[in-house]
Amino acid sequence: MTSAYISGTGFYLPERVVTNDELAAIMDTSDEWITARTGIKERRYAAPGQGTVDLAVPAVEQALEAAEVTVEQIGLIIFATSTPDYYAPGSGCLLQDRMGFGEIGALDIRVQCSGFLYGLSIADQYIRTGTLEHVLVVGAEVQSNAMDLSDEGRDTAVIFGDGAGAAVLSANEQGRGVLSTHLHSQGKYAQELWIGAASSYAKQRFNKEDIDAGRHWLKMNGKEVFKNAVVRFPEVIREALAANEIDISQVKLIVPHQANLRISQEVARRLKVPEELLYSNIERYGNTTAATVPIAMAEAVREGKIAPGDYVVLAAFGSGFTWAAALLKW
Ligand code: UT7
Repeated sequence: MTSAYISGTGFYLPERVVTNDELAAIMDTSDEWITARTGIKERRYAAPGQGTVDLAVPAVEQALEAAEVTVEQIGLIIFATSTPDYYAPGSGCLLQDRMGFGEIGALDIRVQCSGFLYGLSIADQYIRTGTLEHVLVVGAEVQSNAMDLSDEGRDTAVIFGDGAGAAVLSANEQGRGVLSTHLHSQGKYAQELWIGAASSYAKQRFNKEDIDAGRHWLKMNGKEVFKNAVVRFPEVIREALAANEIDISQVKLIVPHQANLRISQEVARRLKVPEELLYSNIERYGNTTAATVPIAMAEAVREGKIAPGDYVVLAAFGSGFTWAAALLKW
């Protein structure tokens, strides 16, 4: 039986570090509030003129090198982002050209924080069926130029940052890799975390009224997102474990979407596992949406927290609402 394993990972964060104190100088917030409510101490912002694909390229180069796979060997590009370079075409196409991939499929997926896991699931199906041998999955975001950095936007602006992560999935016959993936959505909560502008319902998709009303900013009902996240994370993690008859005590590491340190702490409490079982780097990068899981996974690999043979769970929850998990035997 062919299965898909992660043969290489990579990540890249833009150089500019933005501390909580820097944000407190431009909006009504404080290091104390941000640290206590989210666990975030700093995040990265792309330089002016640095786009989503610019961040993705070094992450992909690292992942290809680690996998010992060349651009010519990749059979499909899956690019997860909620902040693409342009409205159209997708960032996957731009990456194809930029890095000289073959004339292969390049697919953008827009399921926000769950994007990398949805991408992993698609890649897994292509490899499992023997259709492709190597698939690239990328999560990359430039959110810093899409945030309301005024007092009105403080509840979201302090959380989000920029970054990119990537993984190469490759075929193997040893039973290593993705054991199962589990995807979910619940669109009735769409407006709890959304951007209402550039809409098909508007007379003109891009219009001044939307901008004047601030509908182009990300709007979040933080409490509703939080309440759902702490239920869905444990639920989908348990679903992945049950599907493979694996007990949580056998899991080496859970790599969750980095939304809020308090969410991860509450998930650990509900799963009755030590907090350290859930990987965290939110204090350094904030929430990089589709990029958090591949960045965290790549860091965990570099830090030696994941080794061949380990059971690893990846899990995400976010706008849509969408949520997902994957169980991997590394
Ligand atoms: O990627 C997935 C998407 N995002 C998430 O998963 C986020 C989920 N939600 C959260 O992480 C939390 O709800 C937040 C961190 C966004 C907010 O924390 P909270 O404990 O739910 O705070 P709150 O929204 O209830 O706000 C408490 C107070 C309010 O003031 P009043 O009404 O009590 O006077 C807010 O206006 O904190 C105020 N506030 C702030 N104060 C300082 C909100 N944002 C800020 C801020 N700085 N940045």
